[in-house]
Amino acid sequence: MSSLELSSGHAIPLLGLGTWQMRGQQCAEVVQMALEMGYRHVDTAHMYANQVEVGAGLRASGVAPDEVFVTTKIWPDSLGYDQVHRQFDECMEMLALDYVDLLLIHHPNEDVPLAETLGAFDEIAASGRARSIGVSNFSPAQVDVARAAASAPIVNNQVELHVGYCDANFLAHSQRAGVTVTAHRPLARGDLAGAGTLADIGAAHGKTAAQVALRWVVQQGIIAIPKASSEQHLRANMDIWDWALSEEEMGRLNAV
Ligand SMILES: NC(=O)c1ccc[n+]([C@@H]2O[C@H](COP(=O)([O-])OP(=O)(O)OC[C@H]3O[C@@H](n4cnc5c(N)ncnc54)[C@H](OP(=O)(O)O)[C@@H]3O)[C@@H](O)[C@H]2O)c1
Repeated sequence: MSSLELSSGHAIPLLGLGTWQMRGQQCAEVVQMALEMGYRHVDTAHMYANQVEVGAGLRASGVAPDEVFVTTKIWPDSLGYDQVHRQFDECMEMLALDYVDLLLIHHPNEDVPLAETLGAFDEIAASGRARSIGVSNFSPAQVDVARAAASAPIVNNQVELHVGYCDANFLAHSQRAGVTVTAHRPLARGDLAGAGTLADIGAAHGKTAAQVALRWVVQQGIIAIPKASSEQHLRANMDIWDWALSEEEMGRLNAV
């Protein structure tokens, strides 16, 4: 699986499994199935209330924890210094891991100074319990403030991004800042599956509209974390590596 190098020096797989709204035993089973299939990146958050199951799925898969890139996130109501430490401790207890690969601020909260939040994030990074730190749903201006406030590099910004919802200025800023981008909702929550341009382009490659949507993301060096809960969807979403969209097709998709 292709990966990107983060400014912390660690690598992040370009494809991961999203787990929002996956709960209970089903979540554990899907995580296990995905890892057995070859996924090596799982996205969760304190807010998803599924970290116990994500950790259980990981262990049931038999894949060594250090081979799986795990992201978790601190919810915006817990961005004060003590609250970050408390919520992060809860995450680690629920996941039952020694460290996570990436710890993100889930959403900005203008009521808490970023320097306070990132002071706690820096300590967690320095302790080795989060290998890298980053943000989610941050504007370019907020990313700049975060980069100035943190000692550890802000390696990633996880934002909503899919065909038809992508800001070229945002991507250019992220690239200049050395901040990788993760596309959440890369399938627009499933709405893309029927979209005409995607289906037309997919037909030329023997692929589905959803596979075209994911290929369009990763071909730009953007990380994609589609959520899928069936074996069929999990397999389809992995089948995006041994083919490519032409420049003309990328242009048509950029224009959607
Ligand atoms: N940082 C944030 O604020 C934030 C916000 C939203 C999401 N996220 C993260 O991003 C992940 C993905 O976003 P999302 O779950 O909202 O939406 P999404 O990944 O864009 O779409 C998920 C939907 O697409 C369907 N699907 C998956 N693979 C498919 C395929 N090959 N063909 C057709 N349909 C397919 C899924 O169905 P099945 O479940 O039936 O397979 C599900 O209904 C989340 O799970 C979460 O980890 C982060």
